[in-house]
Parts: sequence; structure tokens; C-alpha cells
Amino acid sequence: MQISPQNVVGRDQLIEQIWRKLASKSLRFTAERRIGKTTVMKKMLAEPKPGTSLLFLDLEKAESPHRFTEVLLTEMKPLLSARQKAAGWLENFLTEIEGVEVAGVIKIPERNRIGWKGMLEKAFDRVCSHNSDTLIVLLLDELPYMLQKIAAHERSAGTPDHAALEMLDTLRAMRHEHANLRMIFAGSVGLHHVLSDLRGTEYASQPVNDMPPVEIGPLATADAVLLCERLLKTEGVEVSSVDRGLLASELAALTDRVPFYLERVVACLAELEVPVSVQHAREIVRQHLTDDNDAWEMEHFRSRLRIYYHGSSEDVNGRPIPNASLAGAILDILATAPRPQTIDEVWSAMKARMALDNRDQIIQLLKSLAQDHYLTSDSEKRYAFRFPLIRQWWVLAQGISQ
Ligand SMILES: Nc1ncnc2c1ncn2[C@@H]1O[C@H](COP(=O)(O)OP(=O)(O)OP(=O)(O)O)[C@@H](O)[C@H]1O
Ligand SMILES: [Mg+2]
Repeated sequence: MQISPQNVVGRDQLIEQIWRKLASKSLRFTAERRIGKTTVMKKMLAEPKPGTSLLFLDLEKAESPHRFTEVLLTEMKPLLSARQKAAGWLENFLTEIEGVEVAGVIKIPERNRIGWKGMLEKAFDRVCSHNSDTLIVLLLDELPYMLQKIAAHERSAGTPDHAALEMLDTLRAMRHEHANLRMIFAGSVGLHHVLSDLRGTEYASQPVNDMPPVEIGPLATADAVLLCERLLKTEGVEVSSVDRGLLASELAALTDRVPFYLERVVACLAELEVPVSVQHAREIVRQHLTDDNDAWEMEHFRSRLRIYYHGSSEDVNGRPIPNASLAGAILDILATAPRPQTIDEVWSAMKARMALDNRDQIIQLLKSLAQDHYLTSDSEKRYAFRFPLIRQWWVLAQGISQ
């Protein structure tokens, strides 16, 4: 569930930066799941800059280019019908594409004369040229997930063509054609994985190389503390007198300043119905990290390795080792290391566990694990877990000791 924009804490500086970048280019958000990407988009939508028009599209349920077009046209409707020179453009367009409007939602038949590409081209052309003094910003949330679904749908229908990549190429062509059009891509699935799966080896397109990444991290410490204080108050949590000055900052640290976890810990504190202490907060976090029912869905951090890191590498005897196993072993090493590790230290530790001779493969995996927000590297190129909370979960879930 999304919170209302006035309850969003922080993110102002980040949003200012995003607006500055949008003046000249489109962007893609990169971030760990649940960090607050959708919230940033929703706040931008609620507080647009003068001279801009924002459209937010939740693409989680769009499983085809056709459905994407319907969602887009529905959102574009106010812009398509605004400032008409010749009235009735939208009505004529709907007739041309054999579309209808049902309770404010545009529906189009699966196939029509001009197809989804033609519809997108016409709609963007109309919107951008008839609002030429406005910066049109499309906020496309869960776009990678939609692309995965389009590809999966085609595979299961036995028609493996390139609709998902064609869609990305079409969107890219639109960005290049219209100087007043910008897009932001976001999603909980890594776009780089989806692209490499879709591209395979034969498709040469680079559909997002004009969209620089914007990293969305945890809240700033002061904002996380502020959010804690607010949540403790709204949930009516009574804080024990000894920990009154401490609890909010301790909670911010325990949850890595990620609002999603913060909210959940405070909700559990509220259920205790006794004056709560820092110790209670620690116990709640620990309990969630060890809970086999996994209410925080931490297992995702382990299971997605098998999905993202497919393929295998050979050991010195030519035996295949799944890349997911290698990635897991690297995480085991870094989760239990007393300090950040150089590439060479990771390589030595990996060789001590497995009969390996491909150092480059380990370097590439470290890089991917950093792109996927498991790891971070410092200016000396030493790797460590990015989020202490995920590291702690990894240690517990793998049954290894620190
Ligand atoms: N800046 C913020 N201030 C207050 N609460 C926030 C903030 N950002 C996120 N939240 C809370 O955390 C929840 C999760 O955030 P959000 O849905 O934006 O994350 P996300 O990165 O889009 O997640 P996903 O990866 O699942 O798409 C929100 O519903 C909201 O309750
Ligand atoms: Mg989201």
C-alpha cells in the first residue's frame, strides 16, 4: 500500500537531483527492492514542476505490448484531448484503432489495422506536438517485470519473437524523436538481468544506453530517525524511560534506514502493549530474520540467485559448477569476513573451497553481485555486503558463523 505524498519523509534532495537530470535526459532507477522507488515516483507525481506533465504507469499487470498501449492511452487521455485545434481527435483516433472507452479506461482489440507500434507512435506524436511547451515525463514502474511477462507469455505460446525488446526499442525511438519527452524506468527486478535474458546473443540493440542510472539508497539518517519518531507516535508506542532518547536512532540503524522494515518493526513494537525498549526492537528484528514463515520475504535474496545467475562455470577438472553456487559461496565468504575483502582475498578464499582456475569469472560475479545491491566496493576495490540487515540474514539463513 502506498502512503500519501505528505507522509513521505525525506527524498527532497534526491527528487531535486532527478528533476535537474530530467531537463536533458531520461533515467532509470536502480535500487534494492522495497527501498522506496515507487514512493519517490508518487511524490514527484504529486508535486510536479511548473511546465511539466507527469504520467504514472504501474505496469505490474501489463503482460503484452497491447495491454501496455491500453494503460498508456488511458493515462494519456487528458493530454490527448487537451488543447485540441480540431475537436474530436481522441474520438477519431479511437475509431481508427477500433478502441472504446469503458468507465474511463481505453480498451483496444488484440489486433487492429495499425498495431501497437503504430498506436504508440501516433499517440506520442499527438501528445508531444500538442503540448510542445510542456516536458512530458512518463514514470514507468515495474517495467522490467512487464518485459519478463511479455517474454514468458510469448515463450509459452510458442511464438518466440522479440516483442519485449521491440517495445523497448520503440520507446527509445520515441524519446529520440520528441525533444519534450522523458521517461523514468523503475522496478523491483533488475533491468540488466531482464535485458541480458531477452537479448540472448543475436539481438544487438542497446535500448537503455541513453538512460543513465539513478541510485536510490536508504533514507538519510536524520530522515530515518524522523520517520521512526513519527511512526512510534502514530502507532501509540510507549517507550521505556531509559531508552526514550535512543530508540528512534537505534531503530533506524537496525533496519538499515529502509522505511519498509522500519514500519514493520514499529508495528510489532505497538503490539507489545508494554513500554518498549531497544532490546525489544533487537529481538523483533532477530525474530524476523530467523522466522521460517519469513514475513519479510528475505528468502528472495537467496532464491533469486538461481534465477539471475544461471549457467555454469567449469572447475579445474572440467566439472560444471552452477554460477548461482559460486555467487552463494562468494556471499558466504563476505558475510563472515571481518572486514571488506579485496578481489584477491575473495579469489583465495574461493580456491580454498573449490577447485577453481577461472579468476575472471569470480571478478565478474563480484561485479554482478554489486550491481544487484548485495555488495558494495570501496575506493580500494574491497567488497563487502551493502546492507548489514541482509548480511545478518544471510549468515543466519546459511547457517554460517561470523
Ligand atoms: N520516503 C518515505 N517516507 C515514508 N515512508 C516510506 C518512504 N519510502 C517508502 N516508504 C514506505 O515503504 C513502503 C515501500 O516503499 P515503496 O513501495 O516505494 O518501495 P519500492 O522500492 O517501490 O518497493 P518494490 O521494490 O517492492 O517495488 C511504502 O509503502 C511506504 O510505506
Ligand atoms: Mg515499487
